[in-house]
Amino acid sequence: LREEEEKPSEETKILISSLPWKIDYLGNKLFNYEGYWYSEDILQSIPNIHTGFQPQETDIILASFYKSGTTWLKALTFALVQRSKHSLEDHQHPLLHHNPHEIVPNLELDLYLKSSKPDLTKFLSSSSSSPRLFSTHMSLDPLQVPLKENLCKVVYVCRNVKDVMVSVWCFLNANKGVDWGDFRQSEKIIRAEDYSLEAIFESFCNGVTLHGPFWDHALSYWRGSLEDPKHFLFMRYEDLKAEPRTQVKRLAEFLDCPFTMEEEDSGSIDKILELCSLSNLRSVEINKTRTSSRVDFKTYFRKGQVGDWKSYMTPEMVDKIDMIIEEKLKGSRLKF
Ligand code: A3P
Repeated sequence: LREEEEKPSEETKILISSLPWKIDYLGNKLFNYEGYWYSEDILQSIPNIHTGFQPQETDIILASFYKSGTTWLKALTFALVQRSKHSLEDHQHPLLHHNPHEIVPNLELDLYLKSSKPDLTKFLSSSSSSPRLFSTHMSLDPLQVPLKENLCKVVYVCRNVKDVMVSVWCFLNANKGVDWGDFRQSEKIIRAEDYSLEAIFESFCNGVTLHGPFWDHALSYWRGSLEDPKHFLFMRYEDLKAEPRTQVKRLAEFLDCPFTMEEEDSGSIDKILELCSLSNLRSVEINKTRTSSRVDFKTYFRKGQVGDWKSYMTPEMVDKIDMIIEEKLKGSRLKF
């Protein structure tokens, strides 16, 4: 298949122009499509995914709201499923030479943003080697179309929304030079230096964030995991931090590649955790020095602390968001 930049169809353009829109904390125009907020270009990736993405049964999709532990989940899953091919002690291990985002492509940004026939061989884990790994920040709803045809495994990592907001805020401030408005080809109103936790907080509370509302996003995968636990695994960043060995074993079992007794005895789980630890990935040369098209790789690795929000949010903010969460998650048995 040849990758070609495709122009959005007239039908897509007409649809987008008819959608309600609002401005988010980046000053970007977000459109509400079937309950979720998207920038114009990411919205255009949805028809591309629907026509072009054909999951295989052995594929693994790593789903998350941004700043919820995506980078960690990518590294852990890659190390796990490729452990017979890439020895965990090998100095040439791909995770020691590439950023996890270079290994596992994001469906809507790296692959289907402008094409329904992307070049999958550009990324180590989406080329023909099985299992193929993909990631997405989209909710489960727009993925239902390709998944209905061909079901594969989907792993979602959820994180406390207050820590997500603080992480978003720090990430934006660490990448101040990045023109997110241009990136998203949307109307830019707020300038980089205006990013504030308060503005991010208000957008999250109103649900108007890219791929938001946050709670609906988490609930979509939560319900998926309740209805079909064989294909959907719901993980939590906080659990991964508190009991990493148990969670990695859970992930391995879900992905049908459980650890053998010999592997357990020889410390394979600890080797994966060490390889993918925040301190190790941060110290990898490429993550210290390189920049993707826009973002410094080092800014993907900050503190990784559970409850960091306590240092930044006022009691009023905490009360407000806690009340919203209680209301939004009522009756779902989901907690975060
Ligand atoms: P903080 O900003 O709270 O430190 P994402 O990968 O979805 O962008 O999420 C980024 C968050 O995950 C950041 O949180 C980052 O520090 C943390 N993180 C990145 N790599 C990690 C790792 N290997 N282990 C634990 N946390 C990690």
